[in-house]
Amino acid sequence: MMNLLSDIIREDEKEFSDLKYIIKRKIGFNCEDYKQPHLKRRLAVRLRATESKSYRDYAQVLSKNEDEINKLKETLTVNVTELFRNPETFDSVRNNVLPELIKQKGINKVIKVWSAGCSNGEEPYSIAIMLNEFLGSSAKRYNISIQATDIDDDSIAKAEMAIFQPKQLEKIGQERINRFFVKKDNNYQVIDEVKRLVKVKRHDLISGPKFSGFDIIFCRNVTIYFEQKLQEILYMNFYNALNDGGYFVMGKTETLVGPSTQLFKRFDLKERIFQKREKI
Ligand SMILES: C[S@@+](CC[C@H](N)C(=O)[O-])C[C@H]1O[C@@H](n2cnc3c(N)ncnc32)[C@H](O)[C@@H]1O
Repeated sequence: MMNLLSDIIREDEKEFSDLKYIIKRKIGFNCEDYKQPHLKRRLAVRLRATESKSYRDYAQVLSKNEDEINKLKETLTVNVTELFRNPETFDSVRNNVLPELIKQKGINKVIKVWSAGCSNGEEPYSIAIMLNEFLGSSAKRYNISIQATDIDDDSIAKAEMAIFQPKQLEKIGQERINRFFVKKDNNYQVIDEVKRLVKVKRHDLISGPKFSGFDIIFCRNVTIYFEQKLQEILYMNFYNALNDGGYFVMGKTETLVGPSTQLFKRFDLKERIFQKREKI
């Protein structure tokens, strides 16, 4: 009986690893880097939807059905987001980070921000609006660029459009809608002046190239799904990608771990904002 039971378990685990291998081959998504219980929960969504009884059944569906590949990709990447998500974090960036940053800048008028794991663009356009509001008429004197990256092609395509449905704008207030959006059919598009600050591109945080020279990096609600070892590596990558004195903004439920905890200064712990120490 014991043997039979453990055989079944072994078989499941084997099917699970076979499926992970197929997913890696078909969609380039490295399942091993993600927290395994999270991965299993996400896979269960697709197994149920396709009425697959086992990982092996599902692997067969995946090999025969192109459409399922896209659906799985969507399910695995979890791109839930909203404009000005956690508004209190944006308030802290506006009231505490931006005044310091502008003071540090002096005559250097370049501001570089990275929204890593930008989903459909809600985060980078919120950042662009916030900068525009903060700088007011002096915004023209700054060379602002917001790099928005994500691994998911559908999200990137949406982020490039910068079009949002009326429902998505409900929480941001009429004044912002009037000032920063234009009506496009039944939806709203970010005005050109703000849209052109955001450059969207595909980038895998795990295997993609390293970047540098940023004043602020937002990486919120992305690393939460990754194994701790990988989180530690990514936080060091973010540290290295920042200018001295630059800021790293994490998600409200994320925690800094690994060697970078010794290197970053806690700037606003409640809002998960950290600062790269200035060189002495
Ligand atoms: C829950 S959304 C977070 C969006 C936004 N940052 C926010 O906080 O609202 C997570 C995003 O991370 C992206 N993502 C997942 N793994 C990634 C990876 N390895 N590299 C880049 N982006 C990734 C997903 O595609 C998804 O759009």
